[in-house]
Amino acid sequence: MGRKPFGLHFEQGTRGSLAQCELKAAALERERGQEQKQEQKQDDLDVEDNDIGEKKRLAFLDLMLESAQNGALITDTEIKEQVDTIMFEGHDTTAAGSSFFLSLMGIHQEIQDRVIAELDGIFGDSQRPATFQDTLEMKYLERCLMETLRMYPPVPLIARELQEDLKLNSGDYVIPRGATVTVATVLLHRNPKVYTNPNVFDPDNFLSERQANRHYYAFVPFSAGPRSCVGRKYAMLKLKILLSTILRNYRVYSDLSESDFKLQADIILKREEGFRVRLQAR
Ligand code: HEM
Repeated sequence: MGRKPFGLHFEQGTRGSLAQCELKAAALERERGQEQKQEQKQDDLDVEDNDIGEKKRLAFLDLMLESAQNGALITDTEIKEQVDTIMFEGHDTTAAGSSFFLSLMGIHQEIQDRVIAELDGIFGDSQRPATFQDTLEMKYLERCLMETLRMYPPVPLIARELQEDLKLNSGDYVIPRGATVTVATVLLHRNPKVYTNPNVFDPDNFLSERQANRHYYAFVPFSAGPRSCVGRKYAMLKLKILLSTILRNYRVYSDLSESDFKLQADIILKREEGFRVRLQAR
């Protein structure tokens, strides 16, 4: 399927135009690989890694600049577009995700109690910054985060343009080539056939046994497939560090309940009235 242009989010073929760049970059990495060990090729956020902060790969921008200098077919404008995409996709999405999370913590005080208890168990009275290892222990906070992304997915709608006719398994229907297919994650994630009480904020929806009983694509806040979010792991890490730091220092309150939310589903899901929460130093 092709990607449907949809504002900034859906620029056509941006990865395609990078194919040359990626090939060149791969060659470059191979050259550098003389001094690189095999384990350094693994994902930077793999659990086996000791901590954050170790720079093992070129930053994306450096990679593109270096590839361009080494003859890859990528112009300065294309490089700028790639940077714009990363900045845009990386900022508003995590801003929405963290704001919904804090709103929900403010509303569900007993759930916030459990998150705070977990953080106190990890950090005690220490003011030290969170490490990657700490984030692996934030199991309950992670479940709350996933549940936030289920109920309020920052990207509420994904669109694709069909490049060939698609016969549906469900019956004698063919969706013609050229049609735009939209997947409304915001609805998909609240399918009552998949989630009992879909409109109730329940972090236990992400207990491993419950997850195992659901279809793999029943929860797709980062989309799925070859054009899914490239920042997924970074986003989860960033959100855990940010939100744990806030909740280690403040308690969140909300004077509004979820039924007061006026959802605004543009490119990014937001609350029309703003994310109104109160913070009190702990
Ligand atoms: C909670 C945070 C985030 C959510 C929910 C999210 C969600 C998504 C979704 C649903 C898509 C697919 C959009 C589509 O198919 O039209 C996407 C694509 C993308 N995301 Fe994220 N994202 C998040 C954070 C980030 C971060 C932190 C970065 C980068 C630092 C990032 C970079 C990208 C890029 C570059 C794409 C385009 C990938 C492509 O076109 O091949 N995202 N994201």
